[in-house]
Amino acid sequence: MHGPDRDGELWRRSRVAVSPDGDVVGAISVLRNPSHSGRFSVSLEVRPDHRRQGIGTALIEVARGLRPEPLPLSAKAHTTDLAAMALLQAVGGRIYQQCPGRRPDPTSPEIRSWAGIQAVPSGVRLDPLNGVTADALAVAWVAQYLWSHEAWSPVTSPDTLAQRLREGLADLDPATSTGAWIGDELVATSLVLREPDGAVTLVAETIRRDQPDGVRLVAAALARCMTLLGDAAVTNVLIDGHESDLHLAPVLATLPPTPAEPLLLVEIP
Ligand SMILES: CC(C)(COP(=O)(O)OP(=O)(O)OC[C@H]1O[C@@H](n2cnc3c(N)ncnc32)[C@H](O)[C@@H]1OP(=O)(O)O)[C@@H](O)C(=O)NCCC(=O)NCCS
Repeated sequence: MHGPDRDGELWRRSRVAVSPDGDVVGAISVLRNPSHSGRFSVSLEVRPDHRRQGIGTALIEVARGLRPEPLPLSAKAHTTDLAAMALLQAVGGRIYQQCPGRRPDPTSPEIRSWAGIQAVPSGVRLDPLNGVTADALAVAWVAQYLWSHEAWSPVTSPDTLAQRLREGLADLDPATSTGAWIGDELVATSLVLREPDGAVTLVAETIRRDQPDGVRLVAAALARCMTLLGDAAVTNVLIDGHESDLHLAPVLATLPPTPAEPLLLVEIP
């Protein structure tokens, strides 16, 4: 996130804190998120041996002053990062979204049993995504993304989002990814994204918000992915998503206990 200053759609400012003897002891970057320009993204770090001296607070103050418009800042922090949690509270932060960060092991008997009992609703066909063009997939993913972010982080540039998600499809494992169809209509997807470092992320939701039977559709698609990942001996996946996800959140509530890395999205005025 840190880097040279930029203007325009990708506006960014990075600043450092320097000790009296010239050492860099902290850094902050504040930038415009081109798809969600209602808040400025912020990322900061203070060198461990210089913490609790007010540097983090001072860097946030600097970031506030750099903003070209008086919009809130947005920071991400895992709930296990206690210093970050405390700093965000001290500077008046407000949690506006929580990502459960569930990390099931698809090879575990508990997840295999869960996957085994998810019924496919009648009239629904589950298939891999091999046969779907990248254009059609990008359109479906954008539609899903737009409605699932609308209430709490509305997309301000659908074109930029479409480009970003289209690039994200480069990591798609189409054979393990799963679509749910009713007739010719793709109504839900569970995307399996494999990053170059081996990390596996799942993104699952319906294409439309008002999709009837959405919870069971998402559960069935996710279950097929889990079964295939378990068969492929993949032991660690991240289910991407938010506590507000209309269909995915109720599905996650039915999963057996799993490791998790909850992530908070915090707005700083
Ligand atoms: C989070 C971080 C930036 C804080 O930087 P810092 O310079 O130590 O923060 P400050 O000294 O300005 O702390 C301000 C207040 O935050 C709270 N706080 C900060 N660190 C804390 C800790 N480890 N435990 C409890 N409270 C803490 C306190 O209320 C503190 O005020 P106080 O020292 O008067 O009690 C630093 O710990 C860090 O770089 N962590 C790793 C990266 C990271 O988590 N970045 C933040 C992502 S949002």
